[in-house]
Amino acid sequence: MAEAETLGFAPFTAAPKDILVLFCEEGLKIGPATRRIMAPAGDLFQRAAAADKFTGKSGTALEVVAPAGLAVSRLVVIGAGKAGKLKAKDFAKLGGIARGKVPSKASAATVVAELASGAMKPEHVAEVALGARLRAYTFDRYKTKRREGEEAPKKLALAIAVGNVASAQKAWVHREAVADGVIMARDLINEPANVLYPEEFAKRASALKKLGVQVEVLDVPAMKKLGMHALLGVGQGSAHDSRVVIMRWNGGKKGAEPVAFIGKGVCFDTGGISIKPAAGMEDMKGDMAGAACVTGLMHALAARKAKVNAIGAIGLVENMPDGKAQRPGDIVKTMNGQTIEIINTDAEGRLVLADVLHYVNDKYKPKFMIDLATLTGAIMVALGQEYAGMFSNDDRLCDRLSKAGEATAERVWRMPLGPEYDKIIDSKFADMKNTGGRWGGSITAAQLLQRFVGKTPWVHLDIAGTALGSPQTDINKSWSAGWGVRLLNQLVEDHYEK
Ligand code: BES
Ligand code: MN
Ligand code: ZN
Repeated sequence: MAEAETLGFAPFTAAPKDILVLFCEEGLKIGPATRRIMAPAGDLFQRAAAADKFTGKSGTALEVVAPAGLAVSRLVVIGAGKAGKLKAKDFAKLGGIARGKVPSKASAATVVAELASGAMKPEHVAEVALGARLRAYTFDRYKTKRREGEEAPKKLALAIAVGNVASAQKAWVHREAVADGVIMARDLINEPANVLYPEEFAKRASALKKLGVQVEVLDVPAMKKLGMHALLGVGQGSAHDSRVVIMRWNGGKKGAEPVAFIGKGVCFDTGGISIKPAAGMEDMKGDMAGAACVTGLMHALAARKAKVNAIGAIGLVENMPDGKAQRPGDIVKTMNGQTIEIINTDAEGRLVLADVLHYVNDKYKPKFMIDLATLTGAIMVALGQEYAGMFSNDDRLCDRLSKAGEATAERVWRMPLGPEYDKIIDSKFADMKNTGGRWGGSITAAQLLQRFVGKTPWVHLDIAGTALGSPQTDINKSWSAGWGVRLLNQLVEDHYEK
């Protein structure tokens, strides 16, 4: 588990231990410190590279066990390609690859943060460290037995050798906050629903108080008083009471309008009375990934003391079939007075978000609102698992998010909205209905949300494809990647801390 691992920085001159990981650019180009470290091995590197046809191409690696002349058990040289073009996300990827090359039986490893041109910049070193940290993450707290022949993983001491220890350390303080936010989100999403129900989630979010985040929890009576009947209707069939959690980080100018992030937190989605098929239903423990991302982001912002005022608001419910559950045909009144006819109780996320979006907009008058939700299976049909769907009333915010997506490799693709889609959710009996039929299902869901955001710049991210069963990458081997924490942190860092 990630906690079992330590990560520190050392000067290039420190003796490498056990596993030595180096970087090499195309054409077998290495930096001066790397050359010095390998000097005792003579021409071993050149001979091994020739034997393995290794040239330093990106995506390749050279491994030598018990390298003669070096006091380590294994030498790993990772191809960095043409390093002139590397961006932050590429350094994170290198860190992930490096960490992935350390066998689980190793107790120490040294990664030398140098390219052919010399020592990596502190912010790039921090990205390498972030990549290594995220790569090492596993969710194994419920595994009590080991497979036959499987050794207990050693507690790894990972040292990153750098040109300047103090400045690397300083850059890492910032990046470690983000890594911890991602890991918090992953832990919340991976956690099963018998452990993580609304009240327990609220408790875990309340732990952010330690970082100086103000946390307010609304219970059922408080939500009734506010008139959040759309959210409450979803949770009324569950033995676990619903909650709304508001997290506030005030790192910006006093009184400056906050940025706001809103998350769907359906701790388990059975579909309710419109019950889902059994196959794959276990994945619906992750239907709170939007809320987890918002919570992880608030952790990151607070832990790195971001110079911004930010609100994180999450709607936490469990969608269950029960004698008390809501029915198709029911009509609920939302906090802002609009009524919704329930056609399908499985279209519950939009009902939760409707009330939380209105509450945040009304109470905090934010600069913008970004909501994240595992909202529709249809978004996976449209975009697969590589891009989240982005719906918005604001071109500039979309543009900024698209760029942050490219920078972090947590990418978003804009989808349309419009009055023609909006009228599909008009209802015979109420102001609107909660589903619009099979076609354009992600769009009609977003149209419903838009009815609750007023004129505030707003983005809805449908993360059903990216957040769960996440694609395996060099920096993620977990079922949940904690998608979105790095994206939104990047957005804030780039535009809202000036
Ligand atoms: N939580 C689901 C969407 C989902 C599906 C997320 C698969 C992740 C993986 C959502 O609440 C839902 O059930 N949506 C329905 C909407 C339909 C009833 C209009 C869907 O997508 O089928
Ligand atoms: Mn559902
Ligand atoms: Zn759902």
